[in-house]
Amino acid sequence: MEIHPATLEQFSATEHRFVPVRDLLAAVVRRKLRAGQDLFPDIFGLSFEKRRIVEVLATGRGVILTGRYGVAKTDLAKHVLTLLNEACAASPLFAVERCPIQEDPAILAAHRAGKKTGCQAAPCPICTHMLDDARDDCSHIVLTRLSRLEEGRGFARVQGGGDVLPEEIVGTYNLLKLAQIGDPFDPRVFEPGKIGQANRGLLFVDEIGKLPETAQHALIQAGQEGIVTPSKSRQTFPVDFLLVATTNPRDEEYLCGAVRDRLVSISIPLVGLEDEMRIAAKEAAKLKPQVYIPQLFLRLMVETVRALRADEPLELGPRASINAALIARSSAMLEGRRVASFCDAKEGMYTAILGKAFFEDKADVERRIDGVFPDIGAYLKRHLAGIDLAEIVIVFRQTHGPRAIWSAAGLRSLPASAAADACAAWCRAHEPAGRTSCAAIMAEYLAAYEKGSEGCGCRG
Ligand SMILES: Nc1ncnc2c1ncn2[C@@H]1O[C@H](COP(=O)(O)OP(=O)(O)O)[C@@H](O)[C@H]1O
Ligand SMILES: [Mg+2]
Ligand SMILES: [Zn+2]
Repeated sequence: MEIHPATLEQFSATEHRFVPVRDLLAAVVRRKLRAGQDLFPDIFGLSFEKRRIVEVLATGRGVILTGRYGVAKTDLAKHVLTLLNEACAASPLFAVERCPIQEDPAILAAHRAGKKTGCQAAPCPICTHMLDDARDDCSHIVLTRLSRLEEGRGFARVQGGGDVLPEEIVGTYNLLKLAQIGDPFDPRVFEPGKIGQANRGLLFVDEIGKLPETAQHALIQAGQEGIVTPSKSRQTFPVDFLLVATTNPRDEEYLCGAVRDRLVSISIPLVGLEDEMRIAAKEAAKLKPQVYIPQLFLRLMVETVRALRADEPLELGPRASINAALIARSSAMLEGRRVASFCDAKEGMYTAILGKAFFEDKADVERRIDGVFPDIGAYLKRHLAGIDLAEIVIVFRQTHGPRAIWSAAGLRSLPASAAADACAAWCRAHEPAGRTSCAAIMAEYLAAYEKGSEGCGCRG
């Protein structure tokens, strides 16, 4: 088992060197690319954008992800944190335990040995003070292993809004605590702010355009100069972090010049139909009990959302498709069904889209959905081309009678036929159904086919 240094004294005798966060990220990205792994496996599509994000971050520059609501800007930023955490797990990182900005002991060790590190700034003043107190024996400066970056320690998130004060970002000296404690170098006196919390890791600024200009400047300065000066203080702290910001295109005009100049903007587009289906299915599959949404119903919902997307005021981003899938899932789940029906899908789609319309526009929007919503019989026939659905319906009725309800068992008990074989083959090729049986899925398609859009009676 590897033995980790527990104190600065032990650390000084090891080979650990200061590694900037950008290099840490670069190392993990290189490893994954060499192994042929996807950098962000849970993000579908966007292959160029994913690559560009890490390319820019590996230069040490910050990125600003621009794109409309729901295109995974926030999710991409969270995945950068996942990558950094993989790096942390792979190569041990240490921090000075009592340091409010989790200072890298390598910086202190180098400072103590009179050497320069890649980090130009002087070490953290609180740590320097500990060093001065320790004189020659640093065995009282205790280290911890940073095995994960988590909120407050190697990761911080700023939510853009007009009321964010610069001192929330740069930190502050708490003068009240100073009066109580009396020692300006006591770590409790310094409140590190978002930048100090993000030191050694990632600072995520959501909706940066909504921040007041003073706060935007505070961010840029720290990112650029590698130091932060807390308010009410003359001390500076060295910081090293990756900056990922996001903005909606509408707020781009509120980005101050320095932000535009220093951050590299990457636009995140909407993904294609197939990827949007995967996104909606992924979100619905997170919920238990699981309900399977047959691919053609999912496609129908996502296609309808996309057909109405050009309607600007509705703002139908990928979240509308996700919501449609979630509501369809609920509709089936509430009735104890494990496979969503056509009615569930219809319910999900109408509710999700109408849910984005203003009260007085709802009737009009509903008419527009009706307008793009296809006839389900024709739709299934088109997508299940080569399968004689009408033939299966006839055999089913002959076998089970006119009132029988479509079910997997009912389908399985039909005599073997070319049509049934074609169904099974289609399912295997197109439905990532996991444990859901093809017969259960086909039963839903056939029920919808037989009744048609009007016959299902789920919407007036
Ligand atoms: N390309 C994608 N791949 C996987 N999930 C996505 C993708 N685009 C959007 N999502 C999902 O859609 C939801 C909204 O994404 P989010 O990152 O919050 O969007 P934004 O911050 O751009 O508004 C999240 O659940 C996210 O996982
Ligand atoms: Mg977001
Ligand atoms: Zn420190």
